[in-house]
Amino acid sequence: MTLAVGSPEISLRALRLGVNIDHVATIRNARGEGYPDPTRAAEIALAAGADGITAHLREDRRHISDADIEALAALTRRRGRPLNFEMAVTREMEAIALAHRPHAACLVPEHREEVTTEGGLDVAGQHNRVAPTIEALKAAGIRVSLFIESAGDQIAAAHAVGAQVIELHTGAYCLAVRERRLEAPRLLAALSEGAAQAEALGLEVHAGHGIDYETVGAIAAIPQIAELNIGHFLMGEAIFSGLSPAIRRMRALMDAARGSTA
Ligand code: PXP
Repeated sequence: MTLAVGSPEISLRALRLGVNIDHVATIRNARGEGYPDPTRAAEIALAAGADGITAHLREDRRHISDADIEALAALTRRRGRPLNFEMAVTREMEAIALAHRPHAACLVPEHREEVTTEGGLDVAGQHNRVAPTIEALKAAGIRVSLFIESAGDQIAAAHAVGAQVIELHTGAYCLAVRERRLEAPRLLAALSEGAAQAEALGLEVHAGHGIDYETVGAIAAIPQIAELNIGHFLMGEAIFSGLSPAIRRMRALMDAARGSTA
């Protein structure tokens, strides 16, 4: 099944896979070299079954660079595939998004000391801070997604502030599964309830963070979810199996969970 989403030239599947290529840049930057190239990884990801590419330009540029975003914007435009630009809510990032006009922008919280994006954006507590950025991005034709915890007040606030999409933070659930903690089913139920609440409000639902082969099935089985964004685990697996096989396997697990090969 395909769905027309956003730009008319982009036709997409019912459960899409966005591959986050940030950590190709992490490896490149560890040596200050020009390789491995995240754009090459994006090409391979699209050929292997990714529906779109996700990249996070962090304020400290620890992985993806401004030049990477320029190259990824050009590549995804050429291929007619969506670029999901993850960004902090700052004037600098807003200006970069407006310059490149990606298909979507996902607003995330960002703290310089964190190893990765810890927790979701506090939309309920920061309405006045996020609202102007959402308005500016939407006015430029960019679909706005908010990366939030699956909590009723955050979902309601995301809707009230005019976001078209929410991305549910799956990190706590995935970690609980990996650590074999008893709270994993409760965290999965919270994701499921949040997805249903969001869809009832007319929001498109995405999910991401920490997803691996073990956790993807239960998340993909939540019927309201339209897109998964997956990065770190895939890049780790790519070391052992290659990037294309890792993405193909993830895609197959997603399709199996949905009972389709669409
Ligand atoms: N979605 C969002 C909003 C993120 O910030 C990240 C991490 O950059 C991901 C998805 C992908 O998470 P992971 O790399 O753990 O798969």
